[in-house]
Amino acid sequence: MKRIVAIYPGSFDPPTNGHLDLIERGANIFDELIVAILRNPEKHPLFSLAERKLMLESMTADFPNVRVETFDGLTVDYALTVKATAILRGIRAISDYEYELQMALMNRKMHPELETVFMMPAERYSYLSSRLVREVAQLGGSIQGLVPPMVEQRLKEKLDPAIKLRNARSPRTGKNASKYEKRTGKRK
Ligand code: PNS
Repeated sequence: MKRIVAIYPGSFDPPTNGHLDLIERGANIFDELIVAILRNPEKHPLFSLAERKLMLESMTADFPNVRVETFDGLTVDYALTVKATAILRGIRAISDYEYELQMALMNRKMHPELETVFMMPAERYSYLSSRLVREVAQLGGSIQGLVPPMVEQRLKEKLDPAIKLRNARSPRTGKNASKYEKRTGKRK
């Protein structure tokens, strides 16, 4: 039987609960889903490629048919390299549609055999974007519930290196440590 492999390309800087929602939906309909992080040397991402890969791997650890990779060059070329026949993209609102349509049609022009599949995240994430998460976090606002707790923690560390230093120096492992600390070696 034919196995359908799809890629879910993006910047994921940082990955959000909206991305996770879409990954879950994609994992339910495709046999294999590759979350593909674009290596873009021109952009100056907040999180390094390795950091984004680690976060996404941790977020998707419970999905046996999902894996996380990085790529550069054209998305369509990468899709062919991994034998994918579909590109998954999320559409949150009408405002996404124009850009996504342009990309999908350009990708189709280059590789007509590849199909772009659009899915909608849950309504509660329809306003959510990595850019807004970065901005709100950088300005001290709460991003609780918008990203997984581990990403929230990484953002805090990124924006306040003192927190990272404290965690590195004194991770608790004894009976006073929370489950989170035991699992991650970090204090919340
Ligand atoms: O999460 P993003 O930033 O909206 O993802 C955009 C992404 C990575 C899917 C898009 O920029 C892309 O496909 N870049 C790779 C280069 C490419 O194929 N460009 C032509 C697109 S038609």
